[in-house]
Amino acid sequence: MKIPALDLKKQIAPMRQEIDAAIKEVIDNTSFILGAQVEKFEQHVAEYTGAKYAVGVSNGTDAISLGLLALGIKAGDGVICPAFTYYATAGAVAQIGARPVFADIDPDTYNISLESIEKILTKKNKFKIKAIIPVHLYGMCADMNGILKLTAKFKLKVIEDMAQAFGAEYRSKKAGTMGDCGAVSFYPGKNLGAFGDAGLILTNKKTVAKKLKILRNQGNENNYYHLVLGRNNRLDAIQAVVLDIKLKYLDEWNKKRQEVARYYDKDLAGLPIRTPFVPSYSTHIYHQYTLRAPVSNKSFVEHLQANGIDSRVFYPVPLHLQKCFKYLGYKAGDFPQAEAAAKQVFTLPIYPDLTGEEKDYIIQSVREFKEKVIG
Ligand SMILES: Cc1ncc(COP(=O)(O)O)c(C=O)c1O
Repeated sequence: MKIPALDLKKQIAPMRQEIDAAIKEVIDNTSFILGAQVEKFEQHVAEYTGAKYAVGVSNGTDAISLGLLALGIKAGDGVICPAFTYYATAGAVAQIGARPVFADIDPDTYNISLESIEKILTKKNKFKIKAIIPVHLYGMCADMNGILKLTAKFKLKVIEDMAQAFGAEYRSKKAGTMGDCGAVSFYPGKNLGAFGDAGLILTNKKTVAKKLKILRNQGNENNYYHLVLGRNNRLDAIQAVVLDIKLKYLDEWNKKRQEVARYYDKDLAGLPIRTPFVPSYSTHIYHQYTLRAPVSNKSFVEHLQANGIDSRVFYPVPLHLQKCFKYLGYKAGDFPQAEAAAKQVFTLPIYPDLTGEEKDYIIQSVREFKEKVIG
């Protein structure tokens, strides 16, 4: 059996006609960038999340960079990021000349550790720390109340990196609506995925939303009158109409992912393999279903891949040990929890259309490896 990490063909098939018609309308209208379709989608995202403003942009990485710029973060400012996340969280910080300051993660949730943040903020830092980017990794929210308490005390701006958690909730609030900004990625593989690169920023602050709209469009307020040094980070209308259609299905898809996760949880219970831990404060939308083995994740993934199951390691190298961040001066051992997770976590395919037969085959393959290698 061959089971991909994600099956977008299955996802798109039932809505194909609706999507084709919407794309045709954009082509007929020849309004390809920003415009009415983008505004309509932004409005729908604001309604869905409960955020006051939603600003469509070119991708999730730019969403983070623009959020930082709109909040006044400048070159040389320190921005706290978890050491265990996708490159783009810290890449977006470095791209505007600011300095990523890494924190360790909580070993149960894989999200940023409050203890580690506090340790950074209470020691003498070479760089003025101005912001923090909690990441809602794999689809589950970081402990936002704890983070917001610290950021209020130390006067930091907060950008939630919700690239993997669109639709997840923290104490009944949607991800991305608790910090100063929420940065969304609509990369095709995300739970809500475009037909190319796309992103969005949520905010409840009118002044921030206004700045974001100017920054994403070359610093323009009116055509050819450039107020600030902006960027070309606009959202395309074709992506907006596709996403607007998919948004209607998102809750149903996330619910189905949660059902698959419950199935895995139940069938893997009792094995010496850790299933995802979901604290009472957050829902989990399972962008990834991540297991943790007491042995090297490489060997587990090789076994599953040999059985035709597209298992992956997100992420094999923590950011403080990536070559591109060598200039920051971190070394192995600085963030033990991030380093341990990188060696042990691996994913199982999870998407709404996984069949019972596929799920059982995946579980059987996990059990087979456990018998052979862990005992
Ligand atoms: C945690 C995280 N942050 C940021 C990004 C960047 O999003 P994009 O690929 O849309 O630029 C991603 C996407 O892969 C992500 O997973």
